[in-house]
Amino acid sequence: MNSKTVAELLSQDVTLQDVTVKGWVRTFRANRFIALNDGSTINNIQCVVDFENFDEALLKRVTTGAAIHITGELVESQGKGQSVEIVVKTLEILGDSDPETYPIQPKKHSFEFLRENAHLRTRTNTFSAVMRLRSSLSFAIHKYFNENGFYYMHTPIVTASDAEGAGETFKVTNLDIKNPPLNEDGSVNYKEDFFGKETNLTVSGQLEAESYAMSLGKVYTFGPTFRAENSNTTRHLSEFWMIEPEVAFMDLAGNMDLAEDFMKSVLSYILDNNRDDLEFLDKRLLDEDKTKPQAERSDMSLIEKIKFVVDNNFKRVSYTEAIDILRNCKPNKKKKFKYIIEEWGADLQSEHERFLVEKHFKCPVILFDYPANIKAFYMRLNEDGKTVRAMDILFPGIGEMVGGSQREERLDVLKEKMKALDISEEELWWYLDLRKYGTAVHSGFGLGFERLVMFATGMGNIRDVIPYPRTPQNAEF
Ligand code: 4AD
Ligand code: MG
Repeated sequence: MNSKTVAELLSQDVTLQDVTVKGWVRTFRANRFIALNDGSTINNIQCVVDFENFDEALLKRVTTGAAIHITGELVESQGKGQSVEIVVKTLEILGDSDPETYPIQPKKHSFEFLRENAHLRTRTNTFSAVMRLRSSLSFAIHKYFNENGFYYMHTPIVTASDAEGAGETFKVTNLDIKNPPLNEDGSVNYKEDFFGKETNLTVSGQLEAESYAMSLGKVYTFGPTFRAENSNTTRHLSEFWMIEPEVAFMDLAGNMDLAEDFMKSVLSYILDNNRDDLEFLDKRLLDEDKTKPQAERSDMSLIEKIKFVVDNNFKRVSYTEAIDILRNCKPNKKKKFKYIIEEWGADLQSEHERFLVEKHFKCPVILFDYPANIKAFYMRLNEDGKTVRAMDILFPGIGEMVGGSQREERLDVLKEKMKALDISEEELWWYLDLRKYGTAVHSGFGLGFERLVMFATGMGNIRDVIPYPRTPQNAEF
């Protein structure tokens, strides 16, 4: 008799004589009804026990959190709330729980409390739904690229470059930090370090992905990235996963088309394949919304928001247009923004981005052609000499979801830019080679995976959409 998952059993419409299932007890009610869950679905299967047929001592061990093995008959349910249930014939305790100390009691827990118990939080409906969606989205991403002729490239985690040039890297070293080898001038001698040079964890796989795009045509990376930004916000992690496609012979307009089509495709995948989890999270968000003041409530449910993104065009707006809108908007004039927008060239803060998507356009927005001096060195300079072919995709409730650009393919312009920013040509010799040998227009973008999962699940804190969040002062588990 093979074990079946709860999901498999609940989708049966015939009764089965002998079924066997293993899972964790969610609740045991009236010494009769066990709600069993094994992670295969948000739904529990009800297992009905006739207590007269079982040892009392055994039934006492059926407590919330215990792992059990049940065999029985799958029958049409007598009660409400489920179509089938199991009439239990045998019951085996695989692993006892301790009802006194088990942290995941059958009641509402705060997300803060569950973060402290992140090793058990996927035993709750909310977190199991979020993590199943995370898994589905990840599959949908690989599926999209696979079906569209992209190759999956594994870019290195340990690198000597800081692609974004923001100086927010985690050093990788095996030198004795108390007593490192020094140069004559007192600086650390990294020639004696493991790799013979200074290295760090990658902040982006883009530069390496560019090299593969210039031979394989269409590639993408999907891996962990690390940033030592000291920002304790609900949208930043120190370790997050990023999807970075890179395509040869594609310009910025093509990049926008790709990003939009890609995001719509992965979101529609979960609408088609994760209905139960989405409906649960939809209701959770609705309940959470009810606790908020009227003005902060959302006018769309979670599923409606996802459908809206899938069904509507993203609005494409230049940085210059956005600045005009922001300069003349109410919160700017009334000095409600923390950072007042005064002139062209200002970097946009999340308050500005959110105003644009949530209040002004009320839809995802692709902002493009940013001032060169607020963007990374590798972006292609426009003919105006002051803007670059950059694009950011901003989402309601999230802010920046995607950052991308057409890359500077002209060797002389790139060299000049690197010189101005004091980026060493020696370090990036191989990157410059790509412009020396068969250079071509090419573009790509980076999508922050956790921000996508936040949008798709309606979770408000990025720490709640990754199994074990890494943030400043926190690397538990
Ligand atoms: O805008 P970013 O810094 O762009 C890049 O790294 C480019 N190299 C991408 C490319 O063109 N291939 O980061 C891309 C996205 C952001 O839009 C955001 O969604 C996410 O990565 N991101 C973070 N997500 C969580 N925590 C952080 N600390 C993040 N920093 C960036
Ligand atoms: Mg960015």
